[in-house]
Amino acid sequence: MGQLSVNNLLGIKYIKKQDIDLIFDTADHFKEVLNRPIKKVPSLRDITIANLFFENSTRTKLSFELAEKRLSADVINFSSSSSSIKKGETLIDTVNNILAMKVDMIVIRHPNPGAALLLSKNVDSCIVNAGDGTNEHPTQALLDVYSLKERLGDLDGRKILIVGDILHSRVALSNIYALKLLNAKIKICSPLSLIPREIESLGLSVETNLDKALSWCDAVNVLRVQHERMEKSYFPNDREYSLLYGLDKKRINKLKKDILILHPGPINRGVEIKSDIVESNNSIILDQVENGVAVRMAIIYLLASKMNISKSHETV
Ligand code: CP
Repeated sequence: MGQLSVNNLLGIKYIKKQDIDLIFDTADHFKEVLNRPIKKVPSLRDITIANLFFENSTRTKLSFELAEKRLSADVINFSSSSSSIKKGETLIDTVNNILAMKVDMIVIRHPNPGAALLLSKNVDSCIVNAGDGTNEHPTQALLDVYSLKERLGDLDGRKILIVGDILHSRVALSNIYALKLLNAKIKICSPLSLIPREIESLGLSVETNLDKALSWCDAVNVLRVQHERMEKSYFPNDREYSLLYGLDKKRINKLKKDILILHPGPINRGVEIKSDIVESNNSIILDQVENGVAVRMAIIYLLASKMNISKSHETV
């Protein structure tokens, strides 16, 4: 088995195509494990992982915890609302105190872009970014792309559309980096007010008409409108957004072709996507969630092997 080129997973920006190939090959194996009657391997029974969530999460938090437990790691969970952060302790001090309890790996979600990078430079541990503000969400992008590959095969030349609130989305940036590494064609569709200026430097094609963009693509990743990150109004109201940028059955049926529909969750039903699409045969939203556990198992396993944290190197 090969090795990752990185010692931490801070963002897709820092990894190579070979890393993605290795993560996906390893995830294939763990996906097979997860379909066995006993969904657990002893690979990481000698390591302890701390999941530090400074921001709300359902999917990512539970998926990491399950991935770690399926690998037989010991797991501790930390929530900022009940911690000494409230008493003024710094992030680095908090993490160094957790590491003093002989913890081997840190998974962190934090509202500040760069929080995972900051930790990687200031603490002596392996760091996995579970989403840092509007910067990156690398494990989400890897599970999205893994789910796309499972249905479409090689993504070289495949047309992937990303629709929605690009400005506030860490999922968009990580997906763009991952899809570029795999040579997919990428288009962005959103109101211009929700497209960051830096998108031009990534050389991406932008289309503001959703129907035109959908007729171009093989798959569409629909992003949530992140009301909680909006300090001002970026479009008149949700009804107008839904009419111009929301996916529903009527819009998809007009295409006269099948496209795959992804959404990282949580979903705003009736805003960026309607229930008739969430529950349609085109939707692979729950496949994404299922694949997330196998992909995260692969990432944790490969980082532990690279960093020589784990003494047992069998995926079994
Ligand atoms: N996709 C995602 O990050 O969901 P959560 O915020 O529930 O973890």
